[in-house]
Amino acid sequence: MFDRKIYISRRDKLVSSMKSGLILLLGNSEASCNYADNQYLFRQDSSFLYFFGLDKPDLAAIIDVESGKQIVFGNDVDIDDIIWMGPQPYLCDQAAEIGVNETYPFAKLADFLAEAQNKGRKIHFLPPYRNHNKILLNKLLGVAFDQMTSASSLELINAVVKLRIIKEPCEIEEIDKACNVGYTMHYTAMKMMKPGMVEQQIVGMMEGVCASDALMPSFPIILSQNGETLHNHTHHQILTDGRLCVVDAGAEIASHYASDFTRTLPCGGKFTTMQKEIYTIVSTANNLALDIARPGITYKEVHLSASKIIVQGLINLGLVKGDVEEAVAAGVQGLFMPHGLGHNMGLDVHDMEDLGENNVGYDEAHVRATQFGLASLRMARELQPGHVITDEPGIYFIPALIEKWKKEGTCRGFINFAKLESYYKFGGVRIEDDLLITKNGCRLLGAKRLPNTVEDVEEQMRG
Ligand code: GLY
Ligand code: MN
Repeated sequence: MFDRKIYISRRDKLVSSMKSGLILLLGNSEASCNYADNQYLFRQDSSFLYFFGLDKPDLAAIIDVESGKQIVFGNDVDIDDIIWMGPQPYLCDQAAEIGVNETYPFAKLADFLAEAQNKGRKIHFLPPYRNHNKILLNKLLGVAFDQMTSASSLELINAVVKLRIIKEPCEIEEIDKACNVGYTMHYTAMKMMKPGMVEQQIVGMMEGVCASDALMPSFPIILSQNGETLHNHTHHQILTDGRLCVVDAGAEIASHYASDFTRTLPCGGKFTTMQKEIYTIVSTANNLALDIARPGITYKEVHLSASKIIVQGLINLGLVKGDVEEAVAAGVQGLFMPHGLGHNMGLDVHDMEDLGENNVGYDEAHVRATQFGLASLRMARELQPGHVITDEPGIYFIPALIEKWKKEGTCRGFINFAKLESYYKFGGVRIEDDLLITKNGCRLLGAKRLPNTVEDVEEQMRG
């Protein structure tokens, strides 16, 4: 938890950017796995954590925009809980640590909200993503289940995004720490990867690094020889010399800040010529973002510049034909990189995705494109100091997608479909780093950069 002043200042800023009404922030509850008492690891809601810092289940908070009153609702433990969980601090003492001096039992929340509703006051809430909170909102406010998102407050979403998207120094320190754990996870994978191992053995060790040094991975680890499947969560294959393995993983540390890195490794420790060619294009695109990301440029422009590197590289290899500018305008890169260059990262690995991708990565000046590939860009906004974003270009050879484009004649004049057939078993390459936008440019997050050139990756794997 940060110093109470941090939470007080965040709530003050939130209040000053809202016009009127009550802000209702719901924390998360425990989620059962296979029977009621066997629960998944508890994860607090990130916006609740951001404004109230309390990392316990079954809490809610109200901020009265007009009076400035702030209340935390929750229950103190009773003797039955103490028998199983040990003594727990009182809610009023926990609330005092984040600068709130009014607390009530959770059941009182309904009375406060009913009173506000009777007075015709607006109650702002964020779009719920857990069923428990949907049921709660339905009971407390009478919101229909199919209207949870439309009834949520865009004014509140925008106010929260405006604050959370610019990371404070104390947050950057935490993200740097999360990146350092992410570094060790990847370094472990590089050191241990050998043909004959099963992918899961490496996943297990990476999870172990994370669990012993931090908390948990920031999302389920992606580690697969079938790197052309962007989010491949199957890990049953035997690693084979001559194949590539995409390793995409990061840590969520105790403060819940995340990291997210990808490296693509040759399973046998040495890239083939064909792999080196593709890898080098992706690494050039990844470095380009590092060179040009700075305040004032939009991340959409950075995405398009990286796309040009990718398309030019593929033209040089004879896989794409024609003029690079025309090919990028036509969206050729979508066949090879059907995702965006990156996303915001913070308390969530895809930061604030629950608040709506368009509300986070886009604004009035930047509307989401409809073109395949570009439409998947999560962050298009103009960059500002304090933004934390991932830089994750990739080239993938997805046989089903290539066949679809061939059949439909999509970008026919630009693509050498015949030559692409020799890449059907290639897989994919992705390289991902985490960037902090600074006053004049950007910097990599974490104390050290993971090996990213062909030579450095091979050297690490030899070691
Ligand atoms: N690194 C996984 C993702 O960004 O979706
Ligand atoms: Mn990512």
